[in-house]
Amino acid sequence: MQIPFNKPYLTSKELIYIKNAVSLGKISGNGNYTQKCHEFFQNRYGFKKCLLTTSCTDALEMTAILLDIKPGDEVIMPAFTFVSTANAFVLRGAKIVFADSRTDHPGIDESKIEALITSRTKVIVPVHYAGVACDMDIIMDIAKRHNLFVVEDAAQAIDSFYKGKPLGGIGHLGCFSFHETKNIQCGEGGMLIINDERFSKRAEIIWEKGTNRAAFFRGEIDKYGWVDIGSSFLPSELISAFLFAQLENLDDIQVKRKSLWKKYFQNFERYRISRLNLPIIPDYATNNAHMFYLVCNNLQQRTEIIKILKENDILSVFHYLSLHKSPFYTTKHDGRVLNESDKYSDTLVRLPLYYELSATDLERITNTIISKSL
Ligand SMILES: Cc1ncc(COP(=O)(O)O)c(C=O)c1O
Repeated sequence: MQIPFNKPYLTSKELIYIKNAVSLGKISGNGNYTQKCHEFFQNRYGFKKCLLTTSCTDALEMTAILLDIKPGDEVIMPAFTFVSTANAFVLRGAKIVFADSRTDHPGIDESKIEALITSRTKVIVPVHYAGVACDMDIIMDIAKRHNLFVVEDAAQAIDSFYKGKPLGGIGHLGCFSFHETKNIQCGEGGMLIINDERFSKRAEIIWEKGTNRAAFFRGEIDKYGWVDIGSSFLPSELISAFLFAQLENLDDIQVKRKSLWKKYFQNFERYRISRLNLPIIPDYATNNAHMFYLVCNNLQQRTEIIKILKENDILSVFHYLSLHKSPFYTTKHDGRVLNESDKYSDTLVRLPLYYELSATDLERITNTIISKSL
């Protein structure tokens, strides 16, 4: 039987909570289940303010509005990331200044950031690739010295930590994804974390189409109206109800994913596949088992591995294509060569990792790779 790359896990409570949301008679956004999800994150991680969104893309777009990004502003981020990290700022006219990745990890190379700062730089966007933290002390220090904002793209980083601090809760703003490929999912979904209280009130207005409706529903004002720019960034209660069922099972999901990740690591380590590089988790970071990837030695080897797996009915996938070389941005990029980013574009392969992946299937995957690579 085919082993898919991903299979969204259902806890069995999703439909019960959706039915309950329907019976409560309010299925548009910011209702009972939205509040329950916000409280869950605030209590568990100490986040000051959370706003569920319809995607991480939306949460990132909200940050660009909140930070008043204007044409000509510059935003520094890794080239090895998803298009939404960049698009959110490009939509508001920003110029993206792409940084290279680390040699040992696909995350942004912190040591390369400072040289990219100009008088127009406004934001640094570290992306916690595979849920593994960037070195946030260094990034926050650079931001402080140059008076810049930090937006954490924590799309893959739920329940992961940097020196004990939850990811998404360190920069001025943080963004999560609950897309069906993530550890916790609701099909399409996301969340904005507001760590700097200066942005709390306005974030809620932008979230609610530029109106102060949220304050009205709390009884703080007697009528609501159009007070700022904004859009419809909040998900319906049907989505929040689904997500809440997942959140209740967060610990169970994480235990399972971590054990699968560990098994992959041990299997490859045991056979000492020197021709394949295993993921590195720096001392300051935790591993939330969002992804298990291998870094091949070249594109040819990776193509071969994906092909062999496919012939054995196993689906594996590569990941981002360096954004500075994308058809949309290549002519706008300043021409700097970003070797590490290109290396991960060419050589990184992600293996199946999902709650229901059986031990037998995991062995089948590792054995297929090991038998061809020794
Ligand atoms: C680093 C990163 N940022 C942002 C996103 C966008 O997330 P969403 O699909 O929830 O909009 C993704 C998608 O996987 C991602 O990998």
